[in-house]
Amino acid sequence: MESFMNSGSRMRAIWLCGALSVIVAVRILLARLRISRRRRVLVATAGCKLPPSYPHRDPFGFDMVTESIDAFKSKTFLARQCLQYEVHGTTFSSRYLHQTIINTIDPENIQSVLSTDFDNYGIGWRRKDAFEPLLGKSLFQLDGHAWAASRALLRPAFGKTQVNNLNMFETHVKHLVEAIKTRTMETGQADLAPLFVCLSADLTTEFIHGKSLGSLKNESDENDKNFFEAIKKAGKACEERWQLGLLGKFFPQREFYSNVKKVNTYMDQLIDNALEDESARKEGSRYDFLANLSRVTTDKKVLQDEMCMLFIAGTDALSSMLTNLFFLIGRSPDIWSKLRKEVEFLEGRPPTIKELKGLKYLQSCLNESLRLLPVLPNDSRIANEDTTLPVGGGADGKSPVFVPSGAMVTFSIMALQRRKDLWGADAEDFRPERWEKEEEKASWKFVPFLKGPRICLGHELAINEAGYVLARMAQEFEKLSRVDDDPWVESVSIGTTSANGAKVVAVF
Ligand SMILES: *[C@@H]1O[C@H](CO)[C@@H](O)[C@H](O)[C@H]1NC(C)=O
Ligand SMILES: *[C@@H]1O[C@H](CO)[C@@H](O)[C@H](O)[C@H]1NC(C)=O
Ligand SMILES: *[C@@H]1O[C@H](CO)[C@@H](O)[C@H](O)[C@H]1NC(C)=O
Ligand SMILES: *[C@@H]1O[C@H](CO)[C@@H](O)[C@H](O)[C@H]1NC(C)=O
Repeated sequence: MESFMNSGSRMRAIWLCGALSVIVAVRILLARLRISRRRRVLVATAGCKLPPSYPHRDPFGFDMVTESIDAFKSKTFLARQCLQYEVHGTTFSSRYLHQTIINTIDPENIQSVLSTDFDNYGIGWRRKDAFEPLLGKSLFQLDGHAWAASRALLRPAFGKTQVNNLNMFETHVKHLVEAIKTRTMETGQADLAPLFVCLSADLTTEFIHGKSLGSLKNESDENDKNFFEAIKKAGKACEERWQLGLLGKFFPQREFYSNVKKVNTYMDQLIDNALEDESARKEGSRYDFLANLSRVTTDKKVLQDEMCMLFIAGTDALSSMLTNLFFLIGRSPDIWSKLRKEVEFLEGRPPTIKELKGLKYLQSCLNESLRLLPVLPNDSRIANEDTTLPVGGGADGKSPVFVPSGAMVTFSIMALQRRKDLWGADAEDFRPERWEKEEEKASWKFVPFLKGPRICLGHELAINEAGYVLARMAQEFEKLSRVDDDPWVESVSIGTTSANGAKVVAVF
């Protein structure tokens, strides 16, 4: 080195490095200035004002982290979140470690994030990271073009013919009714929650690969059972990984990865079978989702990711929704009588899709349950670019709010759908009759399945499934009431539901 570089050239090298550093620093500074100038212009032209900010006790929002974890553990996460909006206003800012968060339950802002300003937001890498091992690059996990492609791939499976096909539901609902009767005869009551999980898994598996798991009839073999256990646990663990964020990395996750492996092995087998079944693919003798999808793509990873996503979304969302619904209606014998009256004209036979959609009171019960206990109680997006939200800034909360690129906008669907100023003083009560008013229907104050381009692909299917189950149960059971009066306690997984299930006494 010494001989290679004399002191003169060393000086020159040092000088050069110094000059380069200065140039880089100046460029960074100029870029910063340009950004801040652009931001000032955006803030000024849009008339943005600051929203109230959460009174953190430290500059990094550690207090929020520890409180969130405690609330999560004590199953008071959602209650705490609803309370925060009451205390700090319908739009307020907070921090979560390095992240700026704008919390909002203003319908205009939610509409902006989910629809009118859709292109400026993404789901964020933290969520992708948390679910990646299980859901890979499926619909839930993507943004932009890849998301649009995945959605186009899946959409045909949710066409009118598929979601309105009630025939598929009947066998499974029969099994459900039998199981409730058996439990009731054996123990005098039945917890509907685990039965709904089995029902939803049976329905969803038939939908996605043409063969039901048969869990309600206890017809699953060991292989099916192991898969079912593994995917339930892995799904819950993904949700925890997300809630914990960066901290999740420090917890041992051997069990999680072992469950993911079991799920993948099981799915692999199904997919191999489907791909080997050339004749079925060519002649179209099989009409399930997997057979259809394997006609479009033979990429095993794509098939596996989408299948896992559909299984989890279908099973978790439907079972959570049904448990919440029966938790709420099981409180009131009047509601059950009204439902029975409404289905009387069918004289015991299953409704057609048209009849099902015409059951006004039943449909109101579904909406009312989704309003009070939404299966997806809060959601969030990350801004890809600097942008603004229409309201929430300034003392009166009427000015737009600036959202810097990288900030998170989180919205609580549960708190939104319980706002007394939007829903009336009885917003906390379960009152299906409120849905007689037309104005409740199309507005952005009711978004249980989200809205806009990312509206839940399966929302109509879920409504039809839940409605069918409720109608058939109203026909089968003279009375159905909860055994306890306990308040609802959250169980937050991919779908949010009652931690204590829905234990009922059914009279038949
Ligand atoms: C599969 O495709 C067939 C024919 O295109 C269609 O009738 C059927 O409903 C589809 N099933 C699903 C689950 O996509
Ligand atoms: C389900 O079937 C297995 C045998 O296949 C049996 O050991 C088990 O007790 C059954 N469970 C119920 C709840 O009937
Ligand atoms: C339930 O809510 C949906 C909006 O998500 C609306 O279209 C529908 O009409 C509502 N049903 C009843 C019975 O009010
Ligand atoms: C729910 O809200 C909290 C903030 O209160 C946030 O940390 C969490 O990620 C949110 N969950 C979802 C699904 O967005």
